[in-house]
Amino acid sequence: MSETQSEAQTEAWTIKRLLDWTTEYFGRCDSDSPRLEAEVLLAEALGCERIQLYTQFNEVPQEPALGNYRAWVKRRAAGEPVAYLVGHREFYSLKFVVSEHVLIPRPETEHVVVEAIECSKHFQAPIRIADVGTGSGCIAVALAKHLPNSRITAFEISPEALNLALQNAKLHGVSNQIEFCESDLFASFPEGQFEIIASNPPYVGTREVETLDANVRKFEPEIALFSGPKGTELIERLLAESVERLVVGGYLVFETSPIVMESCLALVAHQSRLEHQKTVRDLAGHQRVVVCKKTG
Ligand SMILES: C[S@@+](CC[C@H](N)C(=O)[O-])C[C@H]1O[C@@H](n2cnc3c(N)ncnc32)[C@H](O)[C@@H]1O
Repeated sequence: MSETQSEAQTEAWTIKRLLDWTTEYFGRCDSDSPRLEAEVLLAEALGCERIQLYTQFNEVPQEPALGNYRAWVKRRAAGEPVAYLVGHREFYSLKFVVSEHVLIPRPETEHVVVEAIECSKHFQAPIRIADVGTGSGCIAVALAKHLPNSRITAFEISPEALNLALQNAKLHGVSNQIEFCESDLFASFPEGQFEIIASNPPYVGTREVETLDANVRKFEPEIALFSGPKGTELIERLLAESVERLVVGGYLVFETSPIVMESCLALVAHQSRLEHQKTVRDLAGHQRVVVCKKTG
């Protein structure tokens, strides 16, 4: 091999070199998980699984995959979330299609699913479950997969989000278990009660907008984030409507933020027919999910 040839080879943009370079670049752009994000983007551009990157470290990606990857790296560095770039995100070990119309499913919301499954043990099948503000459908679909004898109604105010939730239910073969309802909370569903109501409602106050991550604010849908100046406005309505929609002995499981947790617990205490059962911390140690029971 001539000297120029061997130089060209060491300089080639192999998978390993692309990953190392991008990891370092994303690290400088304040990414929380630069290596993971680089791997997800490159695997998607090459149409392979992440693990396969490691078995092809010395391969040199070609066009158009390389061009697509470079464009994504640029957009990610400018703040766009990886899930929107590649069009999917994993939640509860299931793959969910996402778009700019829905909140990207978060790991902390998996606690809502865990707690709802725990509550389901108090009832005989078929269990009726509501998912209020279904977004991508991540809670409804994960529950349908894990509770095959449940009947789920997924409520959502945004028609675009509802479409995506339906798409995800089909992807996971559970669309026969879930009814999709375009609705402001329960308003379009005049009758019917549930053993369990699960919800990850919008809970950011417009007055704390400055505390929100700039990229979340820029890219994720406002309707999924904000519920009014205080942040508890929708939760207050959800609590009042849930009292009417739960069977006696039924459970409401909802997610909120540590910032408004105290106010949320005060709102629960204000509902005489709801009893606070527990508050669950997320993996970062923040109080995140509230479980309450309808007592009368
Ligand atoms: C925080 S996101 C949660 C999405 C999804 N459940 C998740 O956990 O990723 C809140 C969702 O509630 C929907 N939403 C907002 N206001 C609503 C309302 N009044 N009635 C029903 N859904 C609402 C939003 O469109 C959004 O999809």
